[in-house]
Formats: sequence, structure tokens, C-alpha cells
Amino acid sequence: MVSLKEEIEELKRQKNAVVLAHYYVDDDVQAVADYVGDSYYLAKVAVGLKESTIVFAGVKFMGESAKILNPDKTVLMPDPDADCPMAHMAEIEKIEAVRREYDDVAVVCYINSTAELKMHSDVCVTSANAMKIVKALPNKNIYFIPDENLGRYIATKVNDKNFIFNDGFCHVHKAITADDIKRTKKHHPNAKVLIHPECTLDVLSLADYIGSTSGIIDYATNSDSEEFIISTELGVLYELKKKNPNKRFFIVQDRQICPNMKKVTLEKVRDCLLHETGIVNVGEEKRNRSLVPLKKMLELAN
Ligand code: 13P
Ligand code: SF4
Repeated sequence: MVSLKEEIEELKRQKNAVVLAHYYVDDDVQAVADYVGDSYYLAKVAVGLKESTIVFAGVKFMGESAKILNPDKTVLMPDPDADCPMAHMAEIEKIEAVRREYDDVAVVCYINSTAELKMHSDVCVTSANAMKIVKALPNKNIYFIPDENLGRYIATKVNDKNFIFNDGFCHVHKAITADDIKRTKKHHPNAKVLIHPECTLDVLSLADYIGSTSGIIDYATNSDSEEFIISTELGVLYELKKKNPNKRFFIVQDRQICPNMKKVTLEKVRDCLLHETGIVNVGEEKRNRSLVPLKKMLELAN
């Protein structure tokens, strides 16, 4: 009997397709992907692929960004309902009001955002490049959308700018508390604490390392330590364990799961390729305008 994995491999060949997956999707989906990474890596990889079809195993803003960067390619989402709630947590009216109030403001938009929000922004960032990009901007005033936690973390590292925050958040990372970290650390006192910057500042203050999903994986892989407390979505454990079979990883609570990332299943990857469903469409005006901050991110982060 042909396995789902074999079916997907055959469909990839037939359809000239490539699968990109974020570290938060299920292990078996990561296992069939041609490229697995954090949001920055996946946005970079999406540019310049030779295949004509990209299957994006992730949430909507990721597939949308891939389409905006590659208008001539077919981008398929295995589950078009997999959407990041934070991507919607900012308002165009508020952006316009901030622009009226601060004439030199740069609207810095976390890539976890809708194309509409990107259209009204100056530059996109991910957790892997936000610090570098914000520092490189000539603007004194920074309006950081939609994630308040990432914005506040960057502000602690960039002292010569004035930050205006928005109240968006990732419900998965916001649910992790300082007590969760302290309790886990008590049980594993020698473990290094690795935290994603979508967590709140009081949680981040307990970290040995703060970074994107790739940053967390690289830190654990390159570290001499053997034990790590992981404060981000549990999907990263697949790559962490694959790269570090002899190291030990501890989670901080049992709700470190993004329900939207988990909507992407192996069956849905097969079905979207087989039936060519979940096609991402972005209208021309929206594409042209949201391409500007995405391209600026790729230039400034490089
Ligand atoms: P990174 O992989 O860029 O760290 O992003 C985390 C995230 O929440 C993606 O939805
Ligand atoms: Fe959005 Fe958080 Fe899920 Fe990432 S983990 S897709 S930020 S809800």
C-alpha cells in the first residue's frame, strides 16, 4: 500500500511543487517538507524557488506573503482556515491616526499580519530580524504592530527611539507565565531557559536566550548544556530532538500548542496537491502595496 508520504512525494513530482513548513506544524508534516524554518527563513526561501507551485504548511499570513513575493507561482494552503488571530489585531484607522500625530513615524509590521495591515506599513519584520531592522531605520518614532510583546522586547534593546505600541498578542505565548518558567526551572535547575519574544516581558526576564524558533533551535544545538526549558510552541521539539538526540528538552505547561498551525495535516497536504485547492489569491493593488514592506524587510535584514 502506498503511504501518504509517498503519495505526496509523487504529487510533488507530477505538479512541480515544493512544500514549505513552519516549525509549529505537526511532525509528520515537517517530515515531508522540502524546507522547514522560522518565518524569516521561509519568506526568504519562497523567493527564487524553481518549482511552479508552493504548498505552504503554515498559517494564512505565511501563504499570503509567499504569494505576494511570488505572484507568478501557484501557492496552496492545505487548510485555508488556518489563520493567526494576532494577524488581525491592529487597525488601519489607528495607523493613520499615529501617522498624523508623528510625522517621522515608521510603521513596523510583524510579518504575522494580514496583507491589509502590510499595505499600510513601512517595513515588515520577523522575530529573527526585528532588532536589526528597527536599529537600521532612520526614524525616531516606531509604531510597532500588531504584537505588543515583541514590540516591547525590541524597545528594551533600542534605547534611542520612541516606541508606540499596539495591543495585539499571540494567545499561545501570552498564556505562558513567569510561574510556569520558575516551576519548571525548580525541577530542572541546570536547564537553560529558551524563550520566544512573543512572550510577555516578565517571562522574558527569566530567559538565558530569547529568539525566534530558528534561534532557539540553533542555540540549543550549539550549546554545551544538555538540558533546555522550551518556552514556545511545541512543534519546535521535532527539530530540536532530531538535531540533538542526546539532549533533554522540557516544556513549561501543556497549552503550548497553536490550534491553527495544528489544522495542517498530512492528509490536507496531499489533498491540496491532488485537487489543487486552497489557492492563495491576492488582488493586484493589495499585492503591489504589501510587497513594498516585505521587500524592504528582505533588503534591510540581509
Ligand atoms: P518565528 O518562527 O519567526 O519565530 O515565528 C513564530 C510564530 O509565532 C509564527 O507564527
Ligand atoms: Fe499566531 Fe501565535 Fe499561532 Fe504563531 S503561534 S500562528 S503567532 S497564534
